[in-house]
Amino acid sequence: MAVAAVVGACALLGPGALPPPAGAVATAATSVTCPGVVAPLTPAQSDQVWSTASRRLSALTGPASLPFGATGRSRYVRTNAYAWTSGFFPSSLWLMYARTKDRVWLDRARRYTARVLPVATWTGTHDLGFMVGLPARLGMGLDPSSARQEAYARAILTAARSLSTRWSDQVRALRSGTYGGKWGVIIDSAMNASLLIDAALILGGAEGRELTSRGTEHLLTLARVFVRPDGSTVHRMAFDPVSGKAIGPVPGQGLSTASTWARGQAWAVNGFARGYRLTRNEQLLDAARRTADFWIARVPSGCIPAWDLDIADSAAPRDSSAAAIMADGLLGLAEVDPDRTRATAYRDYANATLGTLASAPWVPTGPGTRGLLQRQAYSIPGDRREGTYVWGDTYLLGALSTIG
Ligand code: GLY
Repeated sequence: MAVAAVVGACALLGPGALPPPAGAVATAATSVTCPGVVAPLTPAQSDQVWSTASRRLSALTGPASLPFGATGRSRYVRTNAYAWTSGFFPSSLWLMYARTKDRVWLDRARRYTARVLPVATWTGTHDLGFMVGLPARLGMGLDPSSARQEAYARAILTAARSLSTRWSDQVRALRSGTYGGKWGVIIDSAMNASLLIDAALILGGAEGRELTSRGTEHLLTLARVFVRPDGSTVHRMAFDPVSGKAIGPVPGQGLSTASTWARGQAWAVNGFARGYRLTRNEQLLDAARRTADFWIARVPSGCIPAWDLDIADSAAPRDSSAAAIMADGLLGLAEVDPDRTRATAYRDYANATLGTLASAPWVPTGPGTRGLLQRQAYSIPGDRREGTYVWGDTYLLGALSTIG
């Protein structure tokens, strides 16, 4: 599809845009990049992205290290298994195998997943859901070998036990890190907490009940403390670990502590939607809907936002990874939301986002491009350049897999 990119600060629905679901309220303008015509993903576009992914991911296989990405035109960076991003490349390889059923992708997915499984014992990170949970869960569902499925299940259990050591009875949350020198939680953890619930489904019994309770309570703490009344989210929050009380927001990858970092909002929607799928807890459904509706009110259908939803500067970097994570999250929410009108609106919105992302400049098909999804943002306060990173690639392929 030829996309005439229109860049501007826009809060109004463009021609052909889908209406936001009931309850969504358009507020301030967010700078967005929109196609000339908003159109849902077509099967031909989807095929083209998969075939581009096949070439680009093949080019990244070989070395033992794990692909991370490239900022601007700088060299493509690879990491060891202990980077927070280590699980995304193996996950993309599983998604390629699911799509193609080709033994080459199975072998690659096994090989790179084997590199991240040892990280499961590490208690020094809260990102084990991304690093181990995501590829191991895909492997459990896709690997034809029952011995390997068991190994993936064991890794999920081990990783969940490691993550659970970060639990605080006072804060009712898993510690993400130290922010502003204080005990902190980050909105991205919405994606990691469900690792505990995944493990509980494998394990059962009293330990399983404790893991489910901790994973669910962490998500409920995020819903209570991080989701603002308008459905936007705080990025990082410091807590007093003795009283358990929130001290206040801490600067992170967003514009300010009062703004809404685009990828954080996408992590929130995706994480709350999965939490609701696993627990059927109505508060998580409510949190998923409110955070989704805030995004939809700020980002017109088919458009890609700037890296923070409070930016109205047309020259500001975009974050296509946030749009891909959001599309994946909305498709998951659409599958489980009992309100079918809302579900249809979420699915249609996601489909329009994918219709844009499946086009140049987001996924150029020609040679000389590294990675799959372009114009992602990592941490703009530290480096203002757009780049290409493994997490955007994985969630783009994940969303395409859901659409079918
Ligand atoms: N979890 C870090 C990020 O999304 O950039």
